[in-house]
Amino acid sequence: MEKVVALAKRRGFIFPSSEIYGGLSAAYDYGPLGIELKNNIKKAWWKKFVQQRPDMFGLDAAIIMHPKVWEASGHIANFSDPLVDCKKCRRRFRADHLLAPSALSPQYDKEKRIDLVDLRCPDCGGELTDQRQFNLMFKTFMGPVTEEASAVYLRPETAGGIFTNFKSITETMRARLPFGIAQIGKAFRNEITTENFIFRTREFEQMEIEYFVHESEWHKYFSEWQIQMREWCQLLGIRKENLIEHEIPDGERAFYSKRTIDFEYQYPFGQKELYGLAYRTDYDLHQQQKYSGQDLTYTDPITKEKFLPHVIEPSLGVDRSFLACLLEAYTEIDGGRSTTTEAIKDMEVVLKLPYVLAPIKIAILPLSKKEKLINIAREIQSNLNKNYFVQYDETGSIGKRYRRQDEIGTPYCLTIDFETVEDMAVTVRDRDSMQQERIAISELSEYFACKLKDN
Ligand code: GAP
Repeated sequence: MEKVVALAKRRGFIFPSSEIYGGLSAAYDYGPLGIELKNNIKKAWWKKFVQQRPDMFGLDAAIIMHPKVWEASGHIANFSDPLVDCKKCRRRFRADHLLAPSALSPQYDKEKRIDLVDLRCPDCGGELTDQRQFNLMFKTFMGPVTEEASAVYLRPETAGGIFTNFKSITETMRARLPFGIAQIGKAFRNEITTENFIFRTREFEQMEIEYFVHESEWHKYFSEWQIQMREWCQLLGIRKENLIEHEIPDGERAFYSKRTIDFEYQYPFGQKELYGLAYRTDYDLHQQQKYSGQDLTYTDPITKEKFLPHVIEPSLGVDRSFLACLLEAYTEIDGGRSTTTEAIKDMEVVLKLPYVLAPIKIAILPLSKKEKLINIAREIQSNLNKNYFVQYDETGSIGKRYRRQDEIGTPYCLTIDFETVEDMAVTVRDRDSMQQERIAISELSEYFACKLKDN
C-alpha cells in the first residue's frame, strides 16, 4: 500500500489536497495522470452500462437537492454511524470499527447500541464514552441567511437524483420496464473516521444505477446484475481471488435494503467493501411519492397494471475502483526485464493496467535530440494526439525512458531512431510482451486503431 501511495504521488496520479497548507485530512486531488485514469474508468463504465444497453438512460442531477428528498429517503433520520469518544485522548471512533468484524454477532444491528464492554481506546487505552448516533449528512445553507428554513444537504448518494427524476425520464424517454437510470457524480459523507488513502473519504464519486423492475422479477434481475458486476471487475483487471461476494445478513444492511451483496476486495489493509449490490424494493419511489404528493406509479402498457416499480441498485465507488486498479496493476520485477545494454538492473515497476484504462496510451521517444529526429517525433505526436493521450519524452537514456513509461502503465512506446530518417518507420514496443515491431509512420494511425480499438 505504501509503495502504491508513493507511486501515485511521485508520478502525478494523486496529491494530498491543499498540500501547501499542510493538507486536509482525507481529502485528495487527482493529478494529470490520475484524472486520465479516473476518466477512463468512468468512460468504460458509461460505455458498458449506458452506451451499449438499450434499456439504460443517463442522468446528471444537481448535487444540492430539495431537503425533502432526504427526509423522504430516510437519510436525515437514519443515515448515521455509532460514534464514541476516548475520554482520555479525545479521539473519535466509529464504534463498529472498533469491533473486529469477526466479533460482530449475527444479530449485530447497525442502528442499535453496540456492546462495547471491555473495549478501550485503540490509541491510548483510555476509557470510551457511551456511543451515540452521528448523522453523516453534510449540511449547509442556501442563500445569505443561515437559518433552519434554508438548510440544504450535499447528497450522500447519487441515487437521490435518480428517484426524483424517475417520472420525468419515464415520460420523456417513453421508458418501458425493465429499465435503468445511470449517473456518475460526487457524493459527500461526514465520515467519523477516514482511512487508507482514497478508500474512505468525505468527498467521493459514485457510479450508480437504479434498475426498475416489476416486483415479481427482482430475484432474476438481482442475479443478472451480480453477473454484470463480476464482468465489470474483470474489466478493471481485478483478479478473481481478490474479490469476495459477501451476503449481508439481516440487521447489517442499509435501512432501505431487503437484500445486499457487498463486493469486497482484498486490500493490503484487509478485506473491505469495494461495491454494493442492493435490492431497494419500492422503498424510495414509495417515500418520494408520499413526501412529494406526486403520482410516481408506472402503468404497464399491455396489462394496464399500475404499480410502483422495485429497484435493483448496483452502486460503485469511482475512487475505490481507482484504488483497486492501482493495487492490481502494481507489479515489481526484481532485476528488471529489459535486455537492452542500457538497462538498469535494479528492481523495475510496471503498472499493468488494462490498456483501456492506461492514462497515457503511447509514448514518443526520439533516440537523439538531433533536429531531424525531433521534427519527425513532434509530427507523429501531433497526428496521434488527435485520438490518444500521448507523451513526448526526449530526456535520459532509452532504458530509463522505457521504465518511466512502464511505471505509469503506458501500453506502447514508440522510438524514432536514425534509420527512421531513411525508411520513415519507427519501432513500437508493447508494455507487457516487450515485443518490438517496425511500423511505417504512414501506417501508425491504422496500427493503433487496431491495437487500441476498445479505447
Ligand atoms: N446508493 C447506495 C450507496 O450509496 P454505499 O454502500 O453506502 O451505498 C456505495 O456506497 C459505494 O460508494 C461503496 O461501495 C463505495 O464504493 C463507495 N463509497 C461509499 N462511501 C465511501 C467513502 N466514504 N469514500 C469512498 N467511497 C465510498
